[in-house]
Amino acid sequence: MTTTGTDHGPAADRSTAVVRTKAELRAQRATMSGTVAVVMTMGSLHQGHLMLVARAREVADHVILTDFVNPLQFGPNEDFDAYPRDIEGDVALVDGMVDLVFAPATEEMHPTIPPMVSVTTNRTGTLYEGASRPGHFDGVATVVTKLLNLTTPHIAVFGRKDAQQLAIVQSLVTDLDLPVRIEAVDIQRESEGLALSSRNLFLSAEGRRHALGLSATIAAAREAAPSLSGVLDALAAAKAGTAEYSADTTALRFDYALALDPATLQPVTSSHRGETLVMLAGWVDGTRLLDAAVVETTAP
Ligand code: PAF
Repeated sequence: MTTTGTDHGPAADRSTAVVRTKAELRAQRATMSGTVAVVMTMGSLHQGHLMLVARAREVADHVILTDFVNPLQFGPNEDFDAYPRDIEGDVALVDGMVDLVFAPATEEMHPTIPPMVSVTTNRTGTLYEGASRPGHFDGVATVVTKLLNLTTPHIAVFGRKDAQQLAIVQSLVTDLDLPVRIEAVDIQRESEGLALSSRNLFLSAEGRRHALGLSATIAAAREAAPSLSGVLDALAAAKAGTAEYSADTTALRFDYALALDPATLQPVTSSHRGETLVMLAGWVDGTRLLDAAVVETTAP
């Protein structure tokens, strides 16, 4: 690892530069020729992030990883202060795999909070995850726009676990004509099924067992497909707490278990056929966890 970098060939088997300021980032970015992909993270990197990095390396000549816990996307009673941070561990994990890590301080990224100008996500940002976390998606859209402006990538790689975020980022790019392609990467799971997330660090061993109700619900929805009513029944049972799981899910409280049209993010109607986005959020021991999958529903 170096604090600044001079070699700007393809990101492979060499030291990763770490920069903390926008000026350093811009200077480093200016030296990159060929295509650039950005992987935006809030740090506490895990295998799921490494899959995003791996995809970025496949599709671009250079990879920039941003590592920033964005205060704009946390509500006043949320876990911003407690959110896990480990910049040194993060850099060690991606050393040699990315060209550059951009890890700014809060004041560097956001000189004023709240900013005088920010991006609003309109109604889509108030639904589902946004209903439980008012302002969350405006905060995400604002920081994503800033990070795109700062890194000027050809491609930005996002995970499918945060399905609503992915849809909103895709709309941000389309609606604001941003010159970047969004590349989506499938959810990575632990061996028992739990979707990888930085927030899993908050779970006790018992909490992890309870959290398995989320991935078990995804599995039940997959099994019920292609029957749309089967998928809806599986989700209703999960939410009502009447689903039969092999895992102990007694302490899992669902916030939502939805079947959505992936194009519009609206709940599917009974006549819907084709791809259905199953989107889940639940609480285990005060930790909010998400899971999602796209299933093909071609029958009633
Ligand atoms: O998905 C995340 O980790 C964050 O929402 C993102 C996209 C890095 C913006 O802060």
